[in-house]
Amino acid sequence: MKTSSPVCSYNEWDPLEEVIVGTIDGVTAPVLTHDMKTFIRKDYWTFYQQYGGKPYPKELVQKAARALDNLQKVLEDEGVVVRRPDSVDYAHHVFKTPYFESAGFFNADVRDVLLVVGDEIIEAPMSQRCRYFEFLRYRTLIQEYFDKGSIWTAAPKPRMANSLYDWDYPEEDMAFFRGEGNVPDSVGPLNGRFITTEAEPCFDAADFTRFGRDILAQRSHVTNDLGIKWMQRHLGSDYRIHTVKFRDPGPIHMDATWVPIGEGRVLSCPDRPCISSDVLDMFKQGGWEIFYPPRGVAEAEFHMSSRWLSMNILMIDQERVVVEKSEEPTIRFFKEIGLKPILVDFKDHYIFGGGLHCATCDVRRRGTLQSYF
Ligand code: NVA
Repeated sequence: MKTSSPVCSYNEWDPLEEVIVGTIDGVTAPVLTHDMKTFIRKDYWTFYQQYGGKPYPKELVQKAARALDNLQKVLEDEGVVVRRPDSVDYAHHVFKTPYFESAGFFNADVRDVLLVVGDEIIEAPMSQRCRYFEFLRYRTLIQEYFDKGSIWTAAPKPRMANSLYDWDYPEEDMAFFRGEGNVPDSVGPLNGRFITTEAEPCFDAADFTRFGRDILAQRSHVTNDLGIKWMQRHLGSDYRIHTVKFRDPGPIHMDATWVPIGEGRVLSCPDRPCISSDVLDMFKQGGWEIFYPPRGVAEAEFHMSSRWLSMNILMIDQERVVVEKSEEPTIRFFKEIGLKPILVDFKDHYIFGGGLHCATCDVRRRGTLQSYF
C-alpha cells in the first residue's frame, strides 16, 4: 500500500477528507427496454416511452444540478475537499458495439460506477447497456489520482450480449418495487431470479458495502454472482466478501437497505430486512447494533428508486451525517441516536435515481484497514 496515494478509504464512516460529487449535465432518459423496466418505476413508463434516448426536460436537469451544487457547498463548509467529474455532451448519441446498440444514461450516481477499496479505485463493469460508457465521465479525475499514486483497475466489461439478460423475466414482477407493498414470495429475486443471468460477470459498485476487511455484496438485478466472485478473487485474501440477501423484490444497490453509520452501528431498511442468517450472525457476534430508520417523506418524484433514499446518507465521520433537509422524521431519528445531521437541499436530484450516497464516492477517509467483526 502506497501511503502517498490520494485515494484511500476502507469503510463508510472514517473522517472524510475528499469526495467526488457527481455531475448531471448531459443525462439522457434511458430507453425503456425490457431490462430497464426493473429499474424504472411503472408509473413512469409512459414518460420513458416518450423521452427514451433523448435529453430529459432542461428544467429537471437544472434543478438536479443545483441540488448537486448544494451538496458540494455543504461538504466544503464541513471541511471536505470536493471534486467534480466532467460534463458530457454525447450521452444521447447512439453507440454500437458488436453486441448491442444503445444511447447513454450518464446520471450523476458516481457510487454505482466507482468503488474505492484502500488505495485502489475500481471501475465497475455495470450491466445496463445505457450505462456502458458512464466511466468516461470520471476518466480525467481517475487519471489524476493515478498520476499521484493510486491503483487504477477497470473490471472486465461484459459484452452485454442478449445472453446476459432474462428476456422472459415477468413484467408483473417488476410492479413490486423495491420492497414497497405486500410482496408475494413468488416474485423473481425472492426466488433467485433476476433480470441479469450468469452469462458473464457484471456488477455495479453500489452493490458492495465496505466494512474494512469485510465487504458485503448483494446479488441484484445489476450485479451477478460471477461479478461478486470476480471481486473476491481480485481483492484476494486481505478482504472477505460476504454475499448478503435482503427481502427485496427489486434489488438494485445496497445503499438504501443496509447502511453503516459508524463502527458497530448499521441502518437496516424496515421494508427490506436482511435474510442471510450468516451475515446477521456476523453482525450479532461482532456486537453491532442494528437501527431501523423511519420511511422517507420528501415531496419529490421517484422515477428509479423507492422513498428510502431518505436513508441513502453520507457519513462525514462517526458524528456528522449528511441528510436531505426535508426528511424530517429521519433527521429527528438521527438526533435521537446521537448523530449531528448536516442538512442539504437535495430532493430535486431524487428523480434521477440517487440520494446523497449515490451521488458521491469517497476518495479519501482518514483511517486504516481493520476488522470490525
Ligand atoms: N434501489 C434502492 C436503493 C437506491 C439507492 C431503492 O430504490 O431504494
